[in-house]
Amino acid sequence: MSTIKPEDFFKNIISHCKEYGFIFQSSEIYDGLSAVYDYGQMGAELKKNIRDYWWKAMVQIHENIVGIDAAIFMHPTTWKASGHVDAFNDPLIDNKDSKKRYRADVLIEEHVAKIEDKINKEVEKAAKRFENFDADMFRSTNARVKEYQDKIDSINIRFKMALNANNLDEVKQIILDLEIVCPISGTKNWTDVRQFNLMFNTSTGAVTDESNIIYLRPETAQGIFVNYLNVQKTGRMKLPFGIAQTGKAFRNEIVARQFIFRMREFEQMEMQFFVKPGTEMDWYEYWKKARLNWHLSLGLGAEKYRYHDHLKLAHYANAACDIEHQFPFGFKELEGIHSRTDFDLKQHQEFSGKKLQYFDSETNESYVPYVVETSVGLDRLFLSVLASSLKEEALEGGDSRTVLNLPPALAPYKAAVFPLVKKDGLPELAESIMKDLKFDFMVAYDEKDTVGKRYRRQDAIGTPFCITVDHQSLEDKTVTIRHRDTMKQDRVAIADLHKILTEKTSINSLLRAL
Ligand code: GAP
Repeated sequence: MSTIKPEDFFKNIISHCKEYGFIFQSSEIYDGLSAVYDYGQMGAELKKNIRDYWWKAMVQIHENIVGIDAAIFMHPTTWKASGHVDAFNDPLIDNKDSKKRYRADVLIEEHVAKIEDKINKEVEKAAKRFENFDADMFRSTNARVKEYQDKIDSINIRFKMALNANNLDEVKQIILDLEIVCPISGTKNWTDVRQFNLMFNTSTGAVTDESNIIYLRPETAQGIFVNYLNVQKTGRMKLPFGIAQTGKAFRNEIVARQFIFRMREFEQMEMQFFVKPGTEMDWYEYWKKARLNWHLSLGLGAEKYRYHDHLKLAHYANAACDIEHQFPFGFKELEGIHSRTDFDLKQHQEFSGKKLQYFDSETNESYVPYVVETSVGLDRLFLSVLASSLKEEALEGGDSRTVLNLPPALAPYKAAVFPLVKKDGLPELAESIMKDLKFDFMVAYDEKDTVGKRYRRQDAIGTPFCITVDHQSLEDKTVTIRHRDTMKQDRVAIADLHKILTEKTSINSLLRAL
């Protein structure tokens, strides 16, 4: 049972990340850099394991998906062609009294979320009074829910139309009509809404002028599109096929808060699946399901995920949805599944003057393939895994422990080896066990403090197994293995340790469940 109050939980995650070497603020000795973070010794391992699981699930087990590693810098025309120079904007609005800047769309979405909360409260209230619920109460609850839902629908429709028409005056008018106030000043004294491009730029070479501006990629996807033909030809790929990659992306986010949820430098894991035109909606549905299953396989709880279909489609999409995760601050986007049509390849074809087509030997035609994209933020995934795993457990006798119930395959260390005492040949035997295991598993060694304290340290970083070498080990070549989640111990043969760790902690154990 958790003993942490919900309001402290998020703060607790951030301090746990720092205390145990998962995440540090970037350049902390200089007071940090806003919305940029560094992964420490534990975080780098956890992040690598999540990335490996994604890579294996996307590339290794699909014969028709290959992986690449494109450069962060790309020819600047890439971003003109993709639409990012002209359309990768956030609508911004300032409050004249507090001088704080907000994303206009976020202000409206938060207003809608508050109405959604009211609906949830009505439904919860009704469920609680279910037994003595009469017809009049039913009708009035229903009427209230409908009134709220109508309000949400009309805001959403108006907002979508305003954005699609790039009508920023109307976006401001919506904010005024909804009487949205600045959370700092409490006033409605808003500036006009302006568009703000999210791409960072720098320049190549010694001279800085318009001609050598280059961008830090805001998504990894374009590195895949511009390599579509290289990969298709050299890999002799037949439709449908996918190209995957993981790597850094950069966005000059205005509303950069909530720890690693929204960063200015982050990592994406994206896959573009190239399909025959006309089949894209079937593949879109396929990847929606496949990606949700991947998240569910982590075992963090099915109730923590939901789909959210997009109202406002990005400039390249004809269908799009998010897989949302229940973060400590509510359900938020974790992964996007987008049907990107042939937009990107056609644009690159036009801007580069090079044909980016596929010759279909079955129908004898050439065409530009359609694309279904899966795009997940590695840092957000990290946060979702960590936040769902961190528990403060009350123990018998009034004691408590902090434990990270990470999926064992993702844990930074798979096991920790302890000699019970620092004498009698126990450290030597423990070290030899460690030596045998370390080529296949990340294993920690600890001989300091009592075994109880050592267990606590490993619980806090999510190590699934602690192996203790005691005097009996010298006699019969067995050790105790203590399970993180149940705290139960078994006595097992040293010779079986490798097999046990493989069975319980390998990424294959997750892959097989897909
Ligand atoms: N290629 C499509 C694309 O980039 P997106 O919805 O803008 O789509 C995909 O981003 C995923 O990248 C998001 O679902 C999120 O997990 C992650 N992401 C986006 N912006 C981020 C940020 N500023 N910080 C951390 N993760 C971010």
